[in-house]
Amino acid sequence: MADMAFTGPDPDLQDLLAARPQLQMHAQDGLCLEGVPLNAIADKHGTPAWVYGAGTMRARYAALRDAFAAENVPMHIHYAVKANDHLAILNLFREQGAGADVVSIGEFLRATKAGIAAQHIVYSGVGKSEAELETALAAGIGQINVESAEEVEMISAVAARLGVVAHIALRMNPDVDAGTHAKITTGLAENKFGIAAEDIPALYARAASLPGVRVAGIAMHIGSQILSTEPYRLAYAKAAEMVRALRAAGHNVEVMDIGGGLGIGYHDEPGLSPSAFAAMVRQVTQGLGVKLMMEPGRYLTGPAGILLASVILRKQAGKRFLVLDAAMNELMRPAMYEAWHGILPVDASAFHTATSPADVVGPICESADIFAKDRALPDLRPGARVALLDAGAYGAVMSSAYNARPRPAAVLVDQGGFELITKRQEIPALWDGEIVPGA
Ligand SMILES: Cc1ncc(COP(=O)(O)O)c(C=O)c1O
Repeated sequence: MADMAFTGPDPDLQDLLAARPQLQMHAQDGLCLEGVPLNAIADKHGTPAWVYGAGTMRARYAALRDAFAAENVPMHIHYAVKANDHLAILNLFREQGAGADVVSIGEFLRATKAGIAAQHIVYSGVGKSEAELETALAAGIGQINVESAEEVEMISAVAARLGVVAHIALRMNPDVDAGTHAKITTGLAENKFGIAAEDIPALYARAASLPGVRVAGIAMHIGSQILSTEPYRLAYAKAAEMVRALRAAGHNVEVMDIGGGLGIGYHDEPGLSPSAFAAMVRQVTQGLGVKLMMEPGRYLTGPAGILLASVILRKQAGKRFLVLDAAMNELMRPAMYEAWHGILPVDASAFHTATSPADVVGPICESADIFAKDRALPDLRPGARVALLDAGAYGAVMSSAYNARPRPAAVLVDQGGFELITKRQEIPALWDGEIVPGA
C-alpha cells in the first residue's frame, strides 16, 4: 500500500499549483515559492537543491496553534525534529514558541544548538542508550517518553546515578490501525512501539517505587501521514480511559502527549484539517484535566519544501524517461513508501505546453530510483528545471551520499528573499574521516 489515500487520476499541473498557495507561476520568472523565483535560486546555488519556505512553515504552525486556541484547548506543540532537522528550521519553530520532540541524542543536541531549552524537549524512541540518557538527563531534558518496562528501570538507574529525577511518560500502544502505510504505522500491537495498555497500570506502580523516575503521564503516537481523525479518536479515547483508570488506582496523571502524524495532501487528497483535529481532541479530552502535548513534524514542514532539480537528459527507450540530477539518495520517499510527489516544471512556457507521459528517474544504479511513473509532463529539455513538491518532511533528513553523490545545498526563502542554509557538499568531503590502513 502506498502512503497516499487516493484512487483517482493524477491532478494536472494547474491543479497541483492551485492546491498550493505557497507556489505561484509567473509568466516571466516561472515557478516561485512564496514569491521568490526558483530559477534565481538555481542560478545562484545550482541543482539539486532543497528549498524551504519560512512563511509556509510559520503559517502552518499558526494554523495548528490557532485551531486549538479556537477550541479553547491549551496545546503544547513539540516539533518532531526527525521530519526536518535543519538548524535554521529548528530555530524558526523555536521562534514560534515550539518545543522539540527528539529520538536520538544527535537530535537533542541539534535542538539545543538551535536554542530550544532542554526542558522544552521530549525524548521519544524505542531504544535510547545509557550514554544518550545520561547526556539528556544531565542537560535537564523535560520529558522522556518510555517504551518498555526495561527502559523505565534503565532510566531510573541512570538518573539516580546522576542524582536527578527523570520526568517520564509511558507510551501506550493503543492497538489501533491508523490506516496509513505499513512502514509508518506505529500503534498496532504487532509494532515495536510502546507499551500494551494492560501493562501500563503495573508499570506505573513499579515506577512509583523507583528513585530516579517520576511518571508524569501517558504518551502516544500511532503513525504518520494519517488523513482521518477517526484512528486518533479511537486511540485518544483509550488513552483518556487509561488516565481515568490510573487516577482511580491512586496515581497522579498530569500530562497526555498525543504524538504527531497529521497527514498532508501529496496527490489530490485533502490533508488532515487542523480544525477537525483540534475539535476531536477537545471532545475526547474534555474534562480530563491533563496538560496536552503533541509532536507534529510532517504537517509543519512537508508542504513548505521543494527538491529543485534539473533534467540531465531525455531518453526514449520504448517510453519516455526524464533523467534528473536529483535521485533517490536525496528524496527516498518514492522508493521507500511508493510515495507520490507532484512535479512541476519551473519555466512558465513549459508549464503551459501540452503534456505526455514520462517516467521521471534519477541517475542512481537502482531500479527503485524512480520519482514518478507515467507522469504527464511537458517536453522538458536537458537543463530544464523541475520542482518536486511537498519534500520538506522526511526528505533531506533521510538522504544519503549513495553512489558518492555529495549532499545538495539547502536554501531558505523568507520575506521575498532567500538565503543559503546548507552549503553544497564538496566532493572531497565525501571521504572526510576515512582512513586507509598503511597509506
Ligand atoms: C514518536 C513520534 N512523534 C512524532 C512523530 C512525527 O510524525 P509526523 O511527522 O507524521 O507528524 C513521529 C514520526 O514518526 C514519531 O515517531
